[in-house]
Amino acid sequence: MINQYLQDNKERFLEELIDLLKIPSISADDQYKTEVDKTADFILNHLKNLGVQKVEKFQTAGHPIVFGEHIIGENLPTILVYGHYDVQPPDPLELWDSAPFEPIIKETEIHPEGAIFARGACDDKGQLFMHFKAFEAMVKTNTLNCNVKFLIEGEEEVGSVNLPIFVDEHKDNLEADVVLVSDTGMIANDVPSICTGLRGLSYLEVEVEGPNRDLHSGLYGGAVANPINVLTKMIASLHDEEGRITVDGMYDDVLELSEADRTLLDGAPFSEETYCNEIGIPKSTGEKGYTTRERASIRPTLDVNGIWGGYIGEGAKTVIPSKAHAKISMRLVPNQTSDKITELFKSHFEKIAPDTVKVNVKPHHGGEPAVITMDSIEYKAASLAMKETFGKEPFPERGGGSIPLVEMFERKLGLKTVLLGFGLDSDAIHSPNEHYGLFNFYKGIETIPLFYKHYAELKK
Ligand code: BES
Ligand code: MN
Ligand code: MN
Repeated sequence: MINQYLQDNKERFLEELIDLLKIPSISADDQYKTEVDKTADFILNHLKNLGVQKVEKFQTAGHPIVFGEHIIGENLPTILVYGHYDVQPPDPLELWDSAPFEPIIKETEIHPEGAIFARGACDDKGQLFMHFKAFEAMVKTNTLNCNVKFLIEGEEEVGSVNLPIFVDEHKDNLEADVVLVSDTGMIANDVPSICTGLRGLSYLEVEVEGPNRDLHSGLYGGAVANPINVLTKMIASLHDEEGRITVDGMYDDVLELSEADRTLLDGAPFSEETYCNEIGIPKSTGEKGYTTRERASIRPTLDVNGIWGGYIGEGAKTVIPSKAHAKISMRLVPNQTSDKITELFKSHFEKIAPDTVKVNVKPHHGGEPAVITMDSIEYKAASLAMKETFGKEPFPERGGGSIPLVEMFERKLGLKTVLLGFGLDSDAIHSPNEHYGLFNFYKGIETIPLFYKHYAELKK
């Protein structure tokens, strides 16, 4: 019956998602503040129209949070659905084949059924919207068997800085049995998987300061340290020959995985060739002793996200710049903590700076890593649900990205999270031409009610 409902309403579901994707809810850019707010209103009204009993929009010091509550039985389990309606900036615009906020459907090799192209299509509006439609279908077919709460924020892409405050202030409202999130990926459309962990994050900005003004590189060159030369040399020294990070103390707290866990995670199919081809690289690389998938999920990393300074205009200008800058992020794994790693980086960076320059290290946001145990009814329910819709048991998979909420909810509320994501790595989240497969969108809507069903049954 529920499947019939989904079948009959497919087209409308997609049209509604398209309307949501049209609003440029770019949380990082203040120019879009009213658009972000409009998106919160869209979510608010949508949940109201779905019949969610109590829906409210909460202002924060940043962007609003939408909270909804639908209680149908005191003794039923409560599922707290979390998602984010904000998106990453679409830049660089010229690399998009179609406008980022004018969604279009196109077929791709990986998505022969079509995919919807727009910023936020997969991360996270498209995945969040699956929960609204699954809720609608359960209500309309009288099959809703759990209480539901919705917590939808607008600041995930900028570090969820105001969410912990909201959580502290609304602990009672947030009481639930489990948190359900679709904001991660799976291995492939014919290889279902469930995310069993996320990395944490430390994000910093560094500045190397040389002379008090830009200098003529002929008059001064050779006798004055060039901040860009210095910065790039310092950055190059942050990895050793074996691909390990050289920051003092970086690996002190890292929890090594047991051989059994590594074998389990390596059980899922993986093609090095497809991996490289899809992103157009001749060869992958990384820390010695680990596989590609391990390097991108269970190991800490350090990457420069942006670097600037000096003359980058047309033609040549002979100059020694006064300053050089870089944005540097580190992905963290279980047992590492964001604040400590940020501190370690700062001292290390200051220590390795030559005495010919001054350095300035400014921390940005962070987030803690998380692990999700497979030995729980939450995981089992998710696994059974996926098995039913995909016809195969899902593999456990550790994700390389970060969702700071997961650890925060466990710490503050004692709540476990299930990461039931349907995106693919090739969906280009955060990149130009982000898209989300229609197969994935509809499969998600079909799978979510089954999670409710199995979870309620296992919980009895
Ligand atoms: N949805 C992603 C995180 C993600 C994607 C995890 C795919 C696993 C697989 C989320 O929106 C995101 O981009 N998070 C940021 C962290 C945040 C603190 C800015 C990230 O991972 O860079
Ligand atoms: Mn996301
Ligand atoms: Mn994201």
